[in-house]
Amino acid sequence: MASAVKLLGTGSFLPERVLTNADFERMVDTSEEWILSRTGIRERHALSAGEKNSDMAVPAGSRALEAARVAPAELDHIIVCTFTADMLVPPCACVVQSRLDAVNAGAVDLSAACTGFISGLAHGAALVAAGQARRVLVIASEALTRVTDYQDRSTCVLFGDGAGAAVLGPGGGGHRIGDFFLRADGSRPELLCIPAGGSERPPSAETVAERLHYIKMNGREVFKFAVTKIIALIEGAAERAGVKPAAIDLVIPHQVNQRIIQAAVERLEMRPEQFYCNIEKYGNTSAASTAIALDEAARGGRIQPGNLVLLLAFGGGFTWGSATIRW
Ligand code: ACO
Repeated sequence: MASAVKLLGTGSFLPERVLTNADFERMVDTSEEWILSRTGIRERHALSAGEKNSDMAVPAGSRALEAARVAPAELDHIIVCTFTADMLVPPCACVVQSRLDAVNAGAVDLSAACTGFISGLAHGAALVAAGQARRVLVIASEALTRVTDYQDRSTCVLFGDGAGAAVLGPGGGGHRIGDFFLRADGSRPELLCIPAGGSERPPSAETVAERLHYIKMNGREVFKFAVTKIIALIEGAAERAGVKPAAIDLVIPHQVNQRIIQAAVERLEMRPEQFYCNIEKYGNTSAASTAIALDEAARGGRIQPGNLVLLLAFGGGFTWGSATIRW
């Protein structure tokens, strides 16, 4: 039987620069009222010129190691969940490995868009459960403002930068994590993609002129998908845990739109206070969003011993997934 996997500590990091809704009123044809009422976002953090993804991933990882009381040299593996690494090669995880001085660790990037952190935790936990690793650092770090089109009002107001992290290990202390559920449907990539820069459409003067290196999203279709999946993920996790959704102590959902959470509250007869929300401050940070929210909830006293915590995410791919933590 696979051994229990524990969450030993969490950390997060947000870059200093803040973009407010008023900043966007000056950039595109939008308003504070539209952004707030349609998304719940007031502000988001953004890298400054010269900063890069690993400048967030490294401090987030360090904070998680400190909380877990694990030294970098004790790490067996580092997983960085991202689609906005410093460079296409090497993996961001290798940059992090070097900067943390994790001299005994393997390193890999994992790309699953907004579901990245949960997928990374699942892969890290599998290594621990199989006895292949004793200490795994999972970091979700996204530099979304680097792939955001600030001429497209339908997407630019949504995204922010940030990083969150967690350390996993076997038994002895920490919080038990498990019931990983991961799914994907890659049949409609055009609904949410960065069309150019990969092997299908390598960078060229044309792709740059056509602004194809930025995130393109069909917001309405993605919204429908997100509402369906948040409900299904909560129902599924509750059923497997043998409880009603109303009995989950805290749901930490991908922070993407306040209205998506509201839809789940109404449909599943849950209470708004069952959901941890920080979208107001950070916008959508893709894979990093659940990691940052988990760290904030843990440090802010929102999670008490014995609580059943549900992490869930949905996004590009499409991908969706969940995990539970018994605190
Ligand atoms: N300011 C003012 N008006 C705007 C803005 C803006 N920033 N953006 C769009 N509009 C306009 C549109 O042009 C449209 O105008 P029209 O009716 O004249 O055509 C109108 O507002 C309504 O547009 P919708 O797209 O229908 O707006 P909606 O209410 O659906 O909200 C939003 C858009 C916020 C993007 C929503 O669809 C959403 O949250 N979608 C889900 C996003 C998501 O879940 N992403 C997860 C994955 S992200 C990732 O993986 C990186």
